[in-house]
Amino acid sequence: MDERLRVEFNEWARAGRGQSMERGHRPVGEQAIARMQVKEDSRVLDLGCGFGWATRLLAGYARSGRVIGIDISDEMVELARSSSKDFDNVEFQTGSAERLPFDDGYFTHAFSMESLYYYADVGAALREVRRVLGPGGLFLTVVDLYKENEPSHQWIEQLRVPVHLLSVDDYRALFEAAGFVDVRDERLYDPTPVPEDYAGGSFKSRKDFLRYRECGSLMLTGRVEL
Ligand SMILES: C[S@@+](CC[C@H](N)C(=O)[O-])C[C@H]1O[C@@H](n2cnc3c(N)ncnc32)[C@H](O)[C@@H]1O
Repeated sequence: MDERLRVEFNEWARAGRGQSMERGHRPVGEQAIARMQVKEDSRVLDLGCGFGWATRLLAGYARSGRVIGIDISDEMVELARSSSKDFDNVEFQTGSAERLPFDDGYFTHAFSMESLYYYADVGAALREVRRVLGPGGLFLTVVDLYKENEPSHQWIEQLRVPVHLLSVDDYRALFEAAGFVDVRDERLYDPTPVPEDYAGGSFKSRKDFLRYRECGSLMLTGRVEL
């Protein structure tokens, strides 16, 4: 499964989709990251970092700390590295969310944008995130494809890799089963206007796009006990 994801997202990297995901995800990603209370000296993980736009954004908060992006796609990681030459507090690694190559308790914060539902074993990935966060550590994730956001379901047939269609309660239960406490969910909304002349793309119609926007992005947070 990891190999299938690697091949698929390498293709996305070559097609310029790392950059287009930044345009699509950033308006909500910025709102989410602003809620994380990342400090000057924080150590932050960006899980499924893609082209690394959020890694670089987080690096602006953790100026004297460290931000590490990890992704299953070596070509996304190459793009992320070459776009981050001006940053001395970021690093990128190729690897799987289900087997994180970091020591127990290394990070103070973890972030993940639009990545979780691709993982073959979401529970295993959440246990790994919980393991690499220290006491009091925060994990914040945003997903746009989830059960309660009905227009997002049309992506499932467009995608060439299998994904999990989980509900808010499914995600909350997985967080709790992985050992996170103070699990919360919230919706975030993208204020960018939907073009009047939208003629299809990610959605079959402008009406679907608008309904999707009304449902909002699902943000989940969980903490490691102190
Ligand atoms: C939809 S993209 C989002 C990328 C980035 N977070 C963003 O917002 O632009 C999903 C990313 O998750 C990565 N990914 C998928 N499965 C993964 C896994 N098992 N471990 C690590 N990364 C994975 C993909 O390679 C891809 O870059």
